[in-house]
Amino acid sequence: MRGLVHQSFILGLVLSLLLSLCHGLTYHIPLKRSVNHDRHESHRDRVTRDVNTNEKLFGHSGNGYYMTMLIGTPPQKINVLIDTGSSNLAIAAVPDINIDKHFVRINSSTYEEDGREVQVPYTQGEWKGLLGTDDVQLTVLPNITVRPNIAFITQSQNFFINGSEWQGIVGMAYESIARPDSSIVPFFNSLVKDGGVRDIFAVQLCGTPYLAEDDKMGGSMTIGGLSSDLYNSEIYYTPLQKLWYYEVLITDIAVDSNSLGLDCKEYNFDRTIVDTGTTNMRFPKRVYKSILNHIQHKIMERPFSPSFWSGDEVMCWEDAMLPFQVFPTISLSMYHSENSLFKLHIPSEKYLRMVIDPFETGKCFKFGIASSEAGTVLGAILMEGYYVVFDRENKRVGFATSPCNAVYNNHSKPAIEGYINSTENLKDCYYIKPASDQSSMLIVAYVMAAICCICVLPLIIMIIQWQYRRSCGNHSNDEEDDGNLIER
Ligand SMILES: *[C@@H]1O[C@H](CO)[C@@H](O)[C@H](O)[C@H]1NC(C)=O
Ligand SMILES: *[C@@H]1O[C@H](CO)[C@@H](O)[C@H](O)[C@H]1NC(C)=O
Ligand SMILES: *[C@@H]1O[C@H](CO)[C@@H](O)[C@H](O)[C@H]1NC(C)=O
Ligand SMILES: *[C@@H]1O[C@H](CO)[C@@H](O)[C@H](O)[C@H]1NC(C)=O
Ligand SMILES: *[C@@H]1O[C@H](CO)[C@@H](O)[C@H](O)[C@H]1NC(C)=O
Repeated sequence: MRGLVHQSFILGLVLSLLLSLCHGLTYHIPLKRSVNHDRHESHRDRVTRDVNTNEKLFGHSGNGYYMTMLIGTPPQKINVLIDTGSSNLAIAAVPDINIDKHFVRINSSTYEEDGREVQVPYTQGEWKGLLGTDDVQLTVLPNITVRPNIAFITQSQNFFINGSEWQGIVGMAYESIARPDSSIVPFFNSLVKDGGVRDIFAVQLCGTPYLAEDDKMGGSMTIGGLSSDLYNSEIYYTPLQKLWYYEVLITDIAVDSNSLGLDCKEYNFDRTIVDTGTTNMRFPKRVYKSILNHIQHKIMERPFSPSFWSGDEVMCWEDAMLPFQVFPTISLSMYHSENSLFKLHIPSEKYLRMVIDPFETGKCFKFGIASSEAGTVLGAILMEGYYVVFDRENKRVGFATSPCNAVYNNHSKPAIEGYINSTENLKDCYYIKPASDQSSMLIVAYVMAAICCICVLPLIIMIIQWQYRRSCGNHSNDEEDDGNLIER
């Protein structure tokens, strides 16, 4: 280590010496002293204060979890969907038939428009809006006001959901996927930077209570730390593979302990993300088909219509425990390090989503596993029953079991098993996208370089000729020569 430092130091010295010789100039590069120490200290003070700031989450089955934000001056209450699968804060700014209120810009004295437009497509739906900013407070952090980027939605399609009770969305992922570009700082980054909150949050999604008469869901989001009363096991961590979505790595999938046996790259084709904004668990086509085959094999004697498997139809049972006894447990092995992993055991109570029976004949369920065109998505039904930690400080996502009770009976609470050693190099499960885009960019770069050379070459020849003539004593008419050179 020290040797390396020495070498690079000497190399740097030689380089700068060479540079100063060439240019006859010395560049003075000041070394900055770390002046942030005090700020870190005050962060730490604040952390202890913030640790227990649990924002309550609400929602309805299938419509996502939301929290309340106070936006503008005077503050208007807007409910925003918590979405770890995107990075924009966007709120309705005009009426929409599916929502009962929207943010009224002219009523806010602190509203500012930026003038740019933005459009964001999701797996389902899209919206268009104007970029701007306004003051935002969270109800649990009354003393912290931030001025984040906000997209004010003026037009949308299949975005707002009738009966969902949210009028906006807060994207909790990284700036690299913010629209229109990464200069749009996401809300949580603003909260960390301007609000002095630690760069970590966690969600406890509880699903619909088992004996509830309606489909109301509950949960909590911890901001700036962890809340020990929201989890009751060790936290098992998987590192983030890339900072855009919360991209993680699955190393195996099993149905009732039988591995699907696919090449583990297939499970992460072409990515695996943790996304509160998606209801179901979604898998790449081949993986989805294999899971379905395994489940159907287990429950062979009971026929289900294809529209149940596609998630379009509900199945109802008079004895609500019955399906849970028949359907198998799905286990996801999550990457921890090159040779260790942990397993998330997902009982059928999680992927059979309870819905309210329209005819009240019994308990009804939707199948919560779907196929995906855009990689594996670990959606809300996976997270329900876990405390999921988005530890951005250490670039990792953690899972712990959570005491909050959703549908689960006492025998099949979601469990975690770990850490387990592996003899294989688990890093090999990462799916590397073919570099088709990059190679075509490279070709473009080469072509551009070639064109440049062709253009510059005559110029160089001309300069050489000119230099040659000058040194041959043609001093009389330099200026004219210059002119000629350019024309030639
Ligand atoms: C906006 O202001 C108008 C007029 O003062 C008022 O009637 C309306 O209730 C306000 N709306 C909101 C959402 O504050
Ligand atoms: C907010 O600030 C007020 C006064 O400045 C203080 O009394 C109160 O305790 C603070 N609240 C929190 C949650 O820190
Ligand atoms: C929204 O749902 C309510 C109640 O289910 C219904 O009365 C209303 O017509 C729906 N609105 C739209 C626009 O679909
Ligand atoms: C689970 O166990 C607790 C007590 O240990 C009991 O109160 C509860 O009713 C049980 N739940 C179910 C669904 O059996
Ligand atoms: C797993 O590997 C670690 C070192 O890499 C070792 O300390 C530990 O004992 C192993 N655990 C088991 C169960 O083999």
